[in-house]
Amino acid sequence: MKQKIVIGNWKNYLDVHETLELATKISNQEIQDNIKLMISPCNLYLNKVNQILKETSVEVIGQNITSYESSSDTGGVTAIGLKNIGVNRSIIGHSEVRKRNKTFKSEDILKQIIPAKFNFVLCFETIEQIPFNMLNNDFEIILAYEPVWAIGTGETASIEHINEIHSLVKAELLGLNLEIPVLYGGSVNPNNSNEILTQELVDGVLVGGASTKYEDLHKIINSI
Ligand code: PGA
Repeated sequence: MKQKIVIGNWKNYLDVHETLELATKISNQEIQDNIKLMISPCNLYLNKVNQILKETSVEVIGQNITSYESSSDTGGVTAIGLKNIGVNRSIIGHSEVRKRNKTFKSEDILKQIIPAKFNFVLCFETIEQIPFNMLNNDFEIILAYEPVWAIGTGETASIEHINEIHSLVKAELLGLNLEIPVLYGGSVNPNNSNEILTQELVDGVLVGGASTKYEDLHKIINSI
């Protein structure tokens, strides 16, 4: 089976001690070759977590960016700022960001970061939210299907539903000759990760709550 991507989105669940403790446990863990693990801690601890994990195969990524260049953007996070601390990828358009910012349009941020080839994981709830014409194969782009009703609710989408959406997205990508992995996110846990991760059309999972518990994350990355 090809390598699958597991992204742990720690959101703002953990305090500084919990974050550093979990990152240290992960740094001591053996990760199989069939898994590419990425961890997305809260911005406040991004630099520290990146230092803890920098000698490992685990990639530390941002949870959000608001612009590419430094700008008059109070409370924002720039891609340049992330690069400065050695972080070369970020989640974009998570549904919790879209909820906070009703006018959010991924095009606004993608047009800044795509020319700079800044790697990203674009979350979408509907296929219409994917700006296919902006995507390319020049650097590492990842898409993540995250139905909002499945996020943090314990209600995972059915395998049939995941496969249906993923096959529609993959057909679009194929038509454009784009080789872009498509992940699923929404209440992934140790009990459903094997079934989801072993689907041919699923290139990985984006995990929120369960990724903040070491045992659960360990089981998820060892479930295939
Ligand atoms: P959840 O979150 O796994 O807690 O549902 C997923 C996400 O928000 O990416």
